[in-house]
Amino acid sequence: MKKHIRILMVEDDPADAELIKHALRKDGLSFVLERVETGEDYLRVLAKTPPDVILSDYALPTFDGYAALAIAQKNCPEVPFIFVTGTMGEEVAIETLKNGATDYVLKLRLSRLAPAVLRALREAGERAERKRALEQLRQSHEQLRALSVYLQHIREEERMRISRAVHDELGQALTGLKIDLSWLSHRLPPQSNRLIEKARVMSSHIDETIETVRRISTELRPGILDHLGLVAAIDWQATEFQTRTGIQCRFAHALDQAVLDENLNTAFFRIFQETLTNIIRHAGATLVEVDLYEEAGRLILEVRDNGRGIRREQISNVKSIGLLGMRERAALFGGEVRITGTPKKGTSVTVSIPNRSSPRSNKRTHENPYRRRSRGSTAWLEADSRR
Ligand SMILES: Nc1ncnc2c1ncn2[C@@H]1O[C@H](COP(=O)(O)OP(=O)(O)OP(=O)(O)O)[C@@H](O)[C@H]1O
Ligand SMILES: [Mg+2]
Repeated sequence: MKKHIRILMVEDDPADAELIKHALRKDGLSFVLERVETGEDYLRVLAKTPPDVILSDYALPTFDGYAALAIAQKNCPEVPFIFVTGTMGEEVAIETLKNGATDYVLKLRLSRLAPAVLRALREAGERAERKRALEQLRQSHEQLRALSVYLQHIREEERMRISRAVHDELGQALTGLKIDLSWLSHRLPPQSNRLIEKARVMSSHIDETIETVRRISTELRPGILDHLGLVAAIDWQATEFQTRTGIQCRFAHALDQAVLDENLNTAFFRIFQETLTNIIRHAGATLVEVDLYEEAGRLILEVRDNGRGIRREQISNVKSIGLLGMRERAALFGGEVRITGTPKKGTSVTVSIPNRSSPRSNKRTHENPYRRRSRGSTAWLEADSRR
């Protein structure tokens, strides 16, 4: 069945109202129309059921078109509002369109009315459809983000569990083995040189394996992050990176107090690891400078390398999963990651996240972070003030 268009008409002159209805019918529109003359009636009808379209005269004895438009904008902004009026100067017409009117039709040109109504309805339908699609997109984005939080959390917990199990169980078993071997080798007859040598080699293999177990456990989740905090963990990772790659890595920080939020620490640390991995894989750098400081209630980590410099299209490439992961991690805490690159000069990654654990977050400090910066290991600053 064809749906009737529900029209609310604001018009004081019954003869004009008839002419308008006639014009609409003539063009084949099927509609139900309610006519009001006063502000009270207008509000009453709007509150009952918002119409599909509002047609309003401009000048009425007890009510005016501007007020009708303002009320419609407030109560049902999605309903198209068309002025149908005897006269309307161009300036007034432009002003009404600016204020949210969909269109205006002069009573002398009522043949324009039906096409104007149909177009307004079509556009309103498209707007509603777009709004629905955007809302769906927003919802699914939110769901994905929630899923991402959940997965990150599980992943981190799992890493911590495996790291502890590897460290405690394998580590202890190997240490026990080493003690037993030492006990045994002390009881070997002094002349059994081959056995003594074998025991020595075995002992050194056990030492290497203990070292490997320790390394694997630390790579999974550095205990230092949980026990000594972010500054110590970044300091440790920077030193590890330098030792392993030969790329010089300088770390400076200016934090007045510990970052107490464990999840925030993890986010910063994992983002830092990803930037280092990228530097190893892509930068061709010889120097990396790392700064960690607090500014205006935000924790900021800057990692600059002097390599080939990331290109603009690489930064915005949706397939850059590593960069996307860094941005997502920061976004989960209301933060952001800025990446810039200069050809042959290097790449700079700046992570900025509101410090939820800082009593001063939201306050501006106005301090130059570089002034108070200290070099070297002041990790105890963080360690001491933790819980
Ligand atoms: N420090 C850097 N210097 C130069 N180019 C970089 C740097 N970091 C990233 N890039 C460029 O940006 C691209 C995207 O980085 P991203 O971390 O997203 O992906 P990836 O490292 O190639 O793979 P993965 O998803 O395993 O991390 C890289 O492929 C590289 O070309
Ligand atoms: Mg990467």
